Amino acid sequence: MSEPLLTLENITKNYGAIEALKGISFSIAKGEVVALLGDNGAGKSTLVKIIAGGLEPTSGRMLFEGREFLARTPAEAKAAGIETVYQDLSLCTNVDVVANFFMGREIARNVLGVPVLDERAMEAVVAAALANAGTRIPSLRTKAEHLSGGQRQAIELNRFVHWGGKLVLLDEPFAALGVEQTRRGLEMIRQVASQGIGVIIITHIMQQAFQVADRIVVIRQGIVAGDVARSNTSPDAVIDMITGETPAGAGPGG
Ligand SMILES: Nc1ncnc2c1ncn2[C@@H]1O[C@H](COP(=O)(O)OP(=O)(O)O)[C@@H](O)[C@H]1O
Ligand SMILES: [Mg+2]
Repeated sequence: MSEPLLTLENITKNYGAIEALKGISFSIAKGEVVALLGDNGAGKSTLVKIIAGGLEPTSGRMLFEGREFLARTPAEAKAAGIETVYQDLSLCTNVDVVANFFMGREIARNVLGVPVLDERAMEAVVAAALANAGTRIPSLRTKAEHLSGGQRQAIELNRFVHWGGKLVLLDEPFAALGVEQTRRGLEMIRQVASQGIGVIIITHIMQQAFQVADRIVVIRQGIVAGDVARSNTSPDAVIDMITGETPAGAGPGG
């Protein structure tokens, strides 16, 4: 097991009288893919929002790269290398792939003392990043609105990796994608993880979890009902953990 990237210690979250999370603890290593599974309302989205700085926990502690860290805003999480990648919410549809890739980090050169965007330099950077990840986009000058959901996701993930991302959170990333795009998306997640990045993916599709994850963490009614290596469990066992057929905390060890 490589170095832990993120450790959650006893995270709780109350929404008024609702105890959405009742003390969540688990960790994720660098280069590891964790699938977060659980029934509707189990607390998965709440947990992911807390990790990404979108929601404050009621109590508990997070360690990121060995240091206590709790992002107060998504921007703070992003600056630390933790980011949620949404299917297409964070791309600007009316600008092209290169502009989306740089977004606030543009390369400029001086022309007679005036900063001018160096479009060729930026295009070269994006082309290299996408080629390196095996992502093919017909033209880098295509506006994002003309790209498929899968292509947008690929650009976002590549952008995340290129700018030094360390932990990416994906909440049902393939919900609107077709079979082939989903297959490519799963491959891309493995590729991202192979570069030492941690990936937490929420999915309700068991087959996807078993295809992509190293470890499966099951949340049930705000607690961890299972935390097992994929190679040590089976879809049936995980379903039992989700529905409560096995007592919380039991299940095959991972
Ligand atoms: N903003 C909110 N206000 C009140 N209750 C919420 C809010 N968000 C989620 N909940 C409740 O917290 C619990 C966990 O929800 P959620 O994290 O969305 O679960 P999941 O993503 O696993 O479906 C549910 O009971 C849900 O109704
Ligand atoms: Mg959810």
